[in-house]
Amino acid sequence: MEVQADVSSWTAAGHRPPCLRVILVGDHPASASYVRGKRKAAAEVGIDSETLRRPDTITQDELLALIGELNADDAVDGILVQLPLPEHIDADAVIEAVDPAKDVDGFHPENTGRLFIGAPRFIPATPFGIMELLRRSDVVIEGAEAVVVGRSNIVGKPIASLLGQRDANATVTLCHSRTRDLALHTRRADILIAAVGRPNLITAEMVKTGVTVIDVGINRVDDASRERGYRLVGDVDFEQVAPKAARITPVPGGVGPMTIAMLLRNTLTAAQTSPVAT
Ligand code: GUN
Repeated sequence: MEVQADVSSWTAAGHRPPCLRVILVGDHPASASYVRGKRKAAAEVGIDSETLRRPDTITQDELLALIGELNADDAVDGILVQLPLPEHIDADAVIEAVDPAKDVDGFHPENTGRLFIGAPRFIPATPFGIMELLRRSDVVIEGAEAVVVGRSNIVGKPIASLLGQRDANATVTLCHSRTRDLALHTRRADILIAAVGRPNLITAEMVKTGVTVIDVGINRVDDASRERGYRLVGDVDFEQVAPKAARITPVPGGVGPMTIAMLLRNTLTAAQTSPVAT
C-alpha cells in the first residue's frame, strides 16, 4: 500500500510512528467491526493505533473530557470518534470538541468548511476514497453528470462538494429522501454515487448503459443460509445493475477498503502537519 511506503519514509527520517486514537462508545456490532478493520489496517502500515472503548453509559461530559485529554496529548496525531453515538450524547458537540488539526475524520465544521471552499485539510475518508477510485480508474469526471443519492455529512454532502470543485468539474445533482422523481435523476447519471443505506434501492431501470456506479451502502439483510444470519448488500442491486454499468463497485469489498486507506493517509498527514509532533 502506498500509505505504508510513506509511513516508512516518515519514520526512516527519524519521526515517531503516526499515532491514532479511536474512541468506540457502546457495542454497536457494525461499529465494532469497522473499528477492528481500522486498527488492523493501521498496524499493517506501521501506524500506532489504539481503541479506547467506553460503555454506552458514558456521559457527554466524560466523553468531552476524554477528547480534551487526547487533544492536549502531543503524542497523539489523530482522533476518531466512531459514529453513531448513543442518543443521550450530542454528536455535533463531540465532533466540535476534537482539535481540527487532529480531526482525521474531517467532520469538524472547520474542516468541513475548508473542504467546501476548495481548501481541504482532512477530506472525510469515504468521499476521499471515492475520488481516488474514480481518478485511478480513469473515469472522466470533467463535464460528467454526477448524481449523488444521500445527503449525509459523512458521504453525500462532501462527495457532492468534491465532485463540483474546480479540480473535478462534474455537474452535480444531490438527491435525497424528498426527491420527487429519483429515477429521473439517476437515469441521467454518468457517475452515480449511492449513499443512503437502503438495500437494493437502485435498480436496473434507474441507470443508463455505461454508467459508473459507486455503491457506498453497507446494509445487513437477514440471510438464514449464512452462519452469522445476515449478509451485506449495497444500496445498488448489483446483479441487475452490473450488466448495464461500465464500472461498478461491489459490496462488500468496493469502497470500504479504500475508505480505511484514506483514514490512514489522513493520520499520516496529521503527523506530518502537526504543529507539535516530532
Ligand atoms: N461511522 C460510519 N462511518 C464512519 C466514519 O467514517 N467515521 C466515523 N467516525 N464513524 C463512522
